[in-house]
Amino acid sequence: MYDTREAFCITDHLPRIGKPAMQNEVFLGLKDKPRQIDSKYFYDSRGSELFEEITRLEEYYPTRTEKTIIEGLWERMDPEHEPLHIVELGSGDSSKFRLLLSGIPPSQLPLIGYYPVDISKEAIAQATENLLNEFPPMRIHGLVLDFVHQLHLLPRPGNRLFCFFGSTIGNLDIDKAYGFMAKLGGIMEHGECLLLGLDMIKSKALLERAYNDSRGVTEKFNKNILMVANRLLEADFEPEAFDHLAFYNQEARRVEMHLRARKPMDIHCGFNGKRIRIQKHECIHTENSYKFSPGHIHELGNRGGLRLTELYSDPASWFSLACFEKTHRTPK
Ligand code: AVJ
Repeated sequence: MYDTREAFCITDHLPRIGKPAMQNEVFLGLKDKPRQIDSKYFYDSRGSELFEEITRLEEYYPTRTEKTIIEGLWERMDPEHEPLHIVELGSGDSSKFRLLLSGIPPSQLPLIGYYPVDISKEAIAQATENLLNEFPPMRIHGLVLDFVHQLHLLPRPGNRLFCFFGSTIGNLDIDKAYGFMAKLGGIMEHGECLLLGLDMIKSKALLERAYNDSRGVTEKFNKNILMVANRLLEADFEPEAFDHLAFYNQEARRVEMHLRARKPMDIHCGFNGKRIRIQKHECIHTENSYKFSPGHIHELGNRGGLRLTELYSDPASWFSLACFEKTHRTPK
């Protein structure tokens, strides 16, 4: 048996942010009007599981569509045959990386280093174990971090390919997405590339179906964020006392998810002894999922000082993988 214990390591940078900062962020968001919880808090181990279930739903087209584009992408991209360090932001179950790998000739595998980056340590640990069973010669260094605040902690082994699949960037509001691109472009070195997955603007009906599945998995996923809040704040939200709400806000080009209170509630937070009073029908905003046009994609590149070299899409243009290259030297 191949011993996988030596072949990988995981560095957990989340403790640097610290529990008090996270408690504060969630508590203040819940006090705020409109009330909100950042969507990164969806992804505890249960939430990551539920999201993976979402990706397999018939109604949820993004993952399936993106995967058809990733298949065969390696051949089309034809990267140079030298050591390549693939840094995947929001790696989750690493299933997209695995697909990308399937296009790489086995002889090149030892040249590849993989750096899965995720907010969920459990997801990285599980994915790494699976990958090493399948591709024993691979070197893996997992990084648990919040890539909005901790991008500067990414290792610089030279010649990296950044992958940010799943349209996760769509979870950031426009200013934050531009700020993210500026930071990412800033840490990228000359010649390094970014593969960015983007969900494209399409009909309201298709979009709303994808976030209101008939089996109620998205609803469970949405409500699970209250279980995360309960653990973090030592609070007593009853997830079942909320309704799942998801709709396409066309003007803002985003799908919004909310949790709407079915009754008045008086939530107690054990960590600071304070209360959060919520009225009947009040909403907690849990997610924005922005949709993009080719123009928006160019602009994302501009903000990072990155040149769009290629835009790979499915025939219906439901989803795109944008390949950007850093062409200017990082200013010292
Ligand atoms: C993982 C952020 C891309 O916005 O479509 C799925 C998360 N939320 N169903 C998305 C999600 C509801 C997903 N992203």
